[in-house]
Amino acid sequence: MNQDNDAGGGRSGVSRRNFLGGGLVAAAVTPLLTGQAEAEAAAAAPTADGVTQVSVRAVVNGSPVSLRVDPRATLLDTLRERLDLKGTKKGCDRGQCGACTVHVDGRRVLSCLTLAAATTGHQVTTIEGLADGDRLHPMQQAFIDHDGLQCGFCTPGQIMSAVAMVDDEGPARSDDEIRERMSGNICRCSAYPRIVDAIRDAQQAMR
Ligand code: FES
Ligand code: FES
Repeated sequence: MNQDNDAGGGRSGVSRRNFLGGGLVAAAVTPLLTGQAEAEAAAAAPTADGVTQVSVRAVVNGSPVSLRVDPRATLLDTLRERLDLKGTKKGCDRGQCGACTVHVDGRRVLSCLTLAAATTGHQVTTIEGLADGDRLHPMQQAFIDHDGLQCGFCTPGQIMSAVAMVDDEGPARSDDEIRERMSGNICRCSAYPRIVDAIRDAQQAMR
């Protein structure tokens, strides 16, 4: 599983990377468009394969972004390939591992199963947007303090999932509940005991 060689797609013979990287506009991120007509005209421009792009306007890690994307583009690919936010990992690309977990309006979502176009008007937060300047989020600090990782591939998803679990859904009342509620985040290195330790401590710090 190589996070930077994960072109994805391929079943149709054309990868998502091609859709996102080759067929669309060259600029990765453009400032918010000021003219409605300009935005609509741009959104109506078809890609080379005849697919009509759609506009996405969202706030990502606190900054407004406006993009034109293939309507089939996932949030995961858009974050990684268009916005260069590669902290969000692509594991299974089919909703089974949790590596791609991000927040949309504070809730944990699987970005591989979320269309980028559906995030218009919403706040998206990735692992890159979790710290407060130089100060790590308590969950990030707890993972470091407890050495809650080995290869680290699953870690951004684990942390994003754990933060939303506590903040949005409420703290877990036991280690078993942490394990149950984090069961959608798979760690192939089996660092689970220390992940649970980290989440247990971070919950206290987040109160
Ligand atoms: S990459 Fe999204 S759940 Fe595995
Ligand atoms: S630390 Fe390696 S997959 Fe979790």
